[in-house]
Amino acid sequence: MSQRKILVTSALPYANGGIHLGHIMEAIQADIWVRLQKMRGHQCIYVCADDAHGTAIMLSARSQGISPEELIDRVQREHERDYAGFRIGFDNFHSTHSAENRELAESIYLALEANGHIARRNIRQLFDPEKKLFLADRYITGTCPRCGAEEQYGDNCEVCGSTYSPAELINPKSALSGATPVEKESEHFFFTVPAFSGMLREWIDGGAVHGAVANKLEEWLGEGLQDWDISRDAPYFGFEIPGNPGKYFYVWLDAPIGYMASFLNLCRRSHDESLDFDAWWRPGGDSELYHFIGKDIVNFHTFFWPAMLASAGYRAPNAVFVHGFVTVDGTKMSKSRGTFINASTYLNHLNPEYLRYYLAAKLGPGIDDLDLNLEDFVQRVNADLVGKLVNIASRCAGFIGKNFAGVLADQLDNAALIDEIRQAAPQIAELYEQREYGKAIRLVMAFADKANQYLNERKPWEIAKADRQSPELRAICTTGINAFRLLAGYLKPVLPALAEKTEEFLAIAPLAWSDFDSLLLDHRINRFQPLMTRIEAKAVEAMVEESRQSWNGGHDTELEADGETQAGAGATEPFADEIDIAAFAKVDLRVARVIEAGLVEGADKLLRLRLDLGREADGAAIERTVFAGIRSAYSPEELDGRLVVVVANLKPRKMKFGVSEGMVLAAGPGGGDIWLLHPDSGAKPGMRIS
Ligand code: 2FM
Ligand code: ZN
Repeated sequence: MSQRKILVTSALPYANGGIHLGHIMEAIQADIWVRLQKMRGHQCIYVCADDAHGTAIMLSARSQGISPEELIDRVQREHERDYAGFRIGFDNFHSTHSAENRELAESIYLALEANGHIARRNIRQLFDPEKKLFLADRYITGTCPRCGAEEQYGDNCEVCGSTYSPAELINPKSALSGATPVEKESEHFFFTVPAFSGMLREWIDGGAVHGAVANKLEEWLGEGLQDWDISRDAPYFGFEIPGNPGKYFYVWLDAPIGYMASFLNLCRRSHDESLDFDAWWRPGGDSELYHFIGKDIVNFHTFFWPAMLASAGYRAPNAVFVHGFVTVDGTKMSKSRGTFINASTYLNHLNPEYLRYYLAAKLGPGIDDLDLNLEDFVQRVNADLVGKLVNIASRCAGFIGKNFAGVLADQLDNAALIDEIRQAAPQIAELYEQREYGKAIRLVMAFADKANQYLNERKPWEIAKADRQSPELRAICTTGINAFRLLAGYLKPVLPALAEKTEEFLAIAPLAWSDFDSLLLDHRINRFQPLMTRIEAKAVEAMVEESRQSWNGGHDTELEADGETQAGAGATEPFADEIDIAAFAKVDLRVARVIEAGLVEGADKLLRLRLDLGREADGAAIERTVFAGIRSAYSPEELDGRLVVVVANLKPRKMKFGVSEGMVLAAGPGGGDIWLLHPDSGAKPGMRIS
């Protein structure tokens, strides 16, 4: 097979948050693929970078009292450390805030403009008059124009689920300053994506994306593409648009260009002549280009990015490999449950190869979410890696070491077994190539079972009892060691550290795919060292506990796709403006008992609560009806008789479903985690909270 030239990327993590299991899963998926290519002798270059621009990063730096440059430098060091901890073998890790990226973003933009693919028009947007910046939708809150729920974000209501434009919000407020935003007009630059519909359809039909993703893209293409707004007004942390002071490239314009910039940086630093930027990026070359990404950022990579590349005279990606999300124990990663796990937290407790193996065993080429079930994780890694794979070596190594001075026999006891394992090499490589990692691993483990079964049948320990120097014993153990060498070699893309230890133990050169043709006979191996230890369930518990502590009171913010949502992820939400004690004293907080709870038709998140707030002086019962957005955590039945805290003097609000006479207080990130007053608190309806 001739040598391929392959460039691989994984999505650029934002430079204002930690690397978490979601990032790690994607990087592991790409890294396995890259390692396979390298083992097969191809030239495969894997680049990544930090995604360093955008409003979120600017604001995050501001709130920490540092410059954006300081923030992104610090975060980049942390990111590189975390990826390295999981043995992600980048050939280069760069930043979108780099000279190379500026150079490329400017030249690509100028090409788009010269080709007539940039349109300009004025748009009206909400502007924060205090902070003096335009507000993206999620930085605006207000009352839902449809159902009257308060504190809803700029583009959709979490209570009634309706979508709207931020200008429709009643009583809108800037989430940054609390000021009332004003509408302001400014000129924006648009990339005319619809001009590329034909080209994009051909590219998609040509197999650049697969299965469900291709179908979705066809559907979007059918509905018609829109121009894409690629400019943002100052203040913004990013690159100024050449010739247009005060206008900046939107973070998502220069983010994918960061793939090129990282590669360009590598080319310029390298003395390897084959790393020629144009040869890899201009059309007509013989290199291949693949992007690994998550399903939330597909449109950027399959519409905008190939269209930009086409306009600017660059090649299109051969394929975009899309994966699903990581869930933990069947649900979205949750900070309060301790399952929003950062890479560094994991590494404090567990061997990275455990996770590489577990994720690989569950990975396929599709976009299904991948569940890290913590119990299954412990069980499976221990059973497969320790109980099966490493066991083969440990059952044979001692006899070779002690009885035969570490030298393997010059022939096998069971050549058929080893032949069968060897013959699977092309099939396993092809499964990796197709990203069918789960299937590849099942095949390897089936061979591990066979090898163990063979040892069970031949019982080398019994032969040793009768004759410790028996040639048969030596040949059996040599068969076992050869099986182990092949299987550890097949898993080398997944378990690079185990492979290194194996190479050292077997005293062999780094295993390449072509080595699976050969056998290890009449060869001196080193003393056996334990290659991998079992996972202790305690270590997993400790990791979850550390994770829970580290988010301490954090909220499960939605991590959205466009780069401006992760500011402060994991930190306590910013406090609202200060009020004095007199203002606080006006809030009448009371204990109430739920006398009746019911569903609200047409509102998924709401429950209608009938509350008992004690008695008037004359003994008359005080009852109120309140709508509360707590349905995700409670069924009406469980609330019957529960105590809650209510704001008792809130002006009644007319909502779509009726009048709400107060507000129930609850804490928590949402979903299944919303906490009310403890049932055993001993409080009585009507008690004032002060
Ligand atoms: O969604 C994200 O996390 C983005 N930072 C990914 C960017 S990928 C590429 F386009 F740069
Ligand atoms: Zn609403």
